[in-house]
Amino acid sequence: MNKNVERILFTEEQLKNRVSEMAQEINKHYKGEPVVVVSVLKGSVVFAVDLIKQLDMPVSLDFICASSYGSGTISSGKLIIKKDVELDVEGKNILLLEDIIDTGETLHEIMKMLKGRGAKSIVTAMMFNKPARRKKAVQADFIGFDIPDEFVVGYGLDYDEQYRNLPYLGVLKRSVYEK
Ligand code: XMP
Ligand code: MG
Repeated sequence: MNKNVERILFTEEQLKNRVSEMAQEINKHYKGEPVVVVSVLKGSVVFAVDLIKQLDMPVSLDFICASSYGSGTISSGKLIIKKDVELDVEGKNILLLEDIIDTGETLHEIMKMLKGRGAKSIVTAMMFNKPARRKKAVQADFIGFDIPDEFVVGYGLDYDEQYRNLPYLGVLKRSVYEK
């Protein structure tokens, strides 16, 4: 285990099994209809890579880089779009992938934007859900795991751009960010 991780919440195997279950649920939902998968950079990339290999409908993949977080752990509640989607979403079924929903601000803003561009449908799938700090009600269609109100890293999630490569989800030691 990484020396800055206090404890593991979900092992690599637990994550893998849950992603497979989610893929089956998503396949059932779409019944072969084509989707545009929109992965929110950077955190959801690991989840997206694992998930899309198990989807059975025609899939196109795109990315958006929008975040309400800087290098700290407190959300400013403001969305900054650093990289927009490149595909035309008008009339498309969008499967929006997020690593984690915390306050809900990021997802809320991205959904609003995609709806405004005329998406036919928007379905959300989030690997982790932290309900304790929710500020905006969000549409959560597929959830991997609910997690407690702690700062977590691994499986794509970072603290100051580190730890995304950890294959498990772990709680970061408070001493790392409380200096
Ligand atoms: P909101 O508050 O908009 O936040 O729902 C979603 C984004 O915040 C980041 N986030 C975290 N990142 N560990 C992280 O590494 C966490 O515990 C955590 N909580 C929120 C994340 O980038 C997500 O997309
Ligand atoms: Mg982050």
